[in-house]
Amino acid sequence: MKVLFIGDIVGRRARNYAQEKIIELKTKLKLDAIIVNVENSAGGFGVTPSICDDFFRVGADVLTTGNHIWDKREIISYITKNDRLLRPLNMIEGTPGLGMTIVDLDAGKIGVANIMTNLFMQKTDNVFDKIPDILENLKLKKNVDFSLIDIHGEASSEKMALGNALDGKVTAVVGTHTHVPTADYQILENGTAYITDVGMSGDYNSIIGMNKKDALNRFLFPQNKKSRLEVSNGEPTLCGVIIESEIGGLSKSIKPLRIGGKLEQTNLE
Ligand SMILES: [Fe+2]
Repeated sequence: MKVLFIGDIVGRRARNYAQEKIIELKTKLKLDAIIVNVENSAGGFGVTPSICDDFFRVGADVLTTGNHIWDKREIISYITKNDRLLRPLNMIEGTPGLGMTIVDLDAGKIGVANIMTNLFMQKTDNVFDKIPDILENLKLKKNVDFSLIDIHGEASSEKMALGNALDGKVTAVVGTHTHVPTADYQILENGTAYITDVGMSGDYNSIIGMNKKDALNRFLFPQNKKSRLEVSNGEPTLCGVIIESEIGGLSKSIKPLRIGGKLEQTNLE
């Protein structure tokens, strides 16, 4: 299967651009599935039901999130009724919504799990304790033909440890949250595609997608009352990875995709 994963969408302009590109890329690249991290898509903080509906309408199959999932309160009732919008799996028991899902598509069954790491992140259950749960439910060749784990986290060491813990057992492990793309995309030793961070889809003339002046002032003048961060509205770069699996469900390739804005670099064949 050929699957596009798009990194954290930041704000309206990046959202509109991503939706436009999803329609175009689905046909042009003959994609079997599209997964998008939407946790910053509503003004940089959270996601709303109508934004999710728009992404599903243009062709996204599963939406993932992270620590900002509950920023817009109206998402709570939506997520309880929608099994294709995920929140991190390792949130405390009783949290609304799902952290893992299986979608039956024309090309096969795709399983997606969303987890949040522990280092420098808001408190969740130990992320490593969730590995057996993921492997049990998203078993390749048995339950799914393709499996992708979105690891939402800050520390590259922790993400790489998780990638290697899952190597050979899932199709792909992709990192999100730092908003900065890493260049370590690779097929790990036992066949799992991996990247520490896909990078945000947003304005790279910014500080991780936010207006530079406000973000910088927080570091320069930490004693001042924090001003609210605003999304930086320059031309966005869409950042993602394209993963191709082979029969059996492990990966044969992972390629970065960066279209538009300051980071554009990818050829699309
Ligand atoms: Fe995040």
